[in-house]
Amino acid sequence: MTTEKPATMFEPPPEPKRVTRVAGRSKKKAKKGAFTAETADIHELYQLAVQHVESEIDFIDEQFEKARGRKAASLREDFCGTGNTACEWVRRRKTNTAVGLDIDQPTLDWGAEHNVAPLTPEQRERVSLINRDVLNPGDATGLDTILAMNFSYWLFMTREAMLGYFKSVRDSLVDDGVFFLDFYGGYEAAREMTEDREIDEGVKSFIYVWDQHKFDPISGRMRCYIHFKFPDKTKIKHAFSYEWRLWTLPEIQELLAEAGFKKVTIFWEGADDEGEGDGEFEPVTEGEADPSYICYLMAEKQAPGT
Ligand SMILES: C[S@@+](CC[C@H](N)C(=O)[O-])C[C@H]1O[C@@H](n2cnc3c(N)ncnc32)[C@H](O)[C@@H]1O
Repeated sequence: MTTEKPATMFEPPPEPKRVTRVAGRSKKKAKKGAFTAETADIHELYQLAVQHVESEIDFIDEQFEKARGRKAASLREDFCGTGNTACEWVRRRKTNTAVGLDIDQPTLDWGAEHNVAPLTPEQRERVSLINRDVLNPGDATGLDTILAMNFSYWLFMTREAMLGYFKSVRDSLVDDGVFFLDFYGGYEAAREMTEDREIDEGVKSFIYVWDQHKFDPISGRMRCYIHFKFPDKTKIKHAFSYEWRLWTLPEIQELLAEAGFKKVTIFWEGADDEGEGDGEFEPVTEGEADPSYICYLMAEKQAPGT
């Protein structure tokens, strides 16, 4: 099996660009300790803006136990990037172990320095971040749970490639193992649009920009970027680039079943009084025609009770 990399119809992704001068006006002076394009670390910004590893691990821990009647101990974080989630897992319990797989060495190195090194020596013993393709996990098998988060698995562009990945995940799990994935959809998912979100971290505040840059309805292929903007008007353009296929939820469920998972559960987010997502995900068999939603899938290798 090889990672599917068909010829792209898009231009190669631009390199990240730090815009440190503001055209036509002087840039505001950055406050002491504030982020600015010249010095901001894109992995730190990504972790602050995109990841909520504590609530993600809360969810996984709780749902695994509910489904399988025991606590999970061994976890594999596929497409782990900086390994933030794997580190959260080993902080949770002394019996927890984690392995992260990613093919980008500089990102793994950043994770080793900023996420693994601050752990206690005992916690560090229980986590490893490995430069390895998720399609060839090697000895990273026999696991209670495997995670594919932040839609990373969408980089598999064909049914065949996605099925190959799901089968490999299934083979890497113990008999009562569980695979967790996230998913986003709704009719806005296919729109070429940008969305700004303010990340309020006191003096370290900034704006995260999600850019659905180009979508091809024929292939379902999509190019997305993450940009960052700072209070002093400087910015980092194309800090992260993604090219993936915009899959549908029925397709993913069908492929999980085809790969041999015996039960797939969809967790839908509840709403607060203003109709905004409340961060609480509950199992459902029917969703709502939300213009833009995030949900989780839980795929069990064996049928419940077996
Ligand atoms: C969207 S980032 C996700 C980072 C992290 N999992 C998270 O939740 O924020 C996608 C990551 O997948 C990695 N990646 C891409 N193809 C891969 C492959 N075949 N095997 C392992 N990692 C891969 C990239 O290097 C990148 O770090």
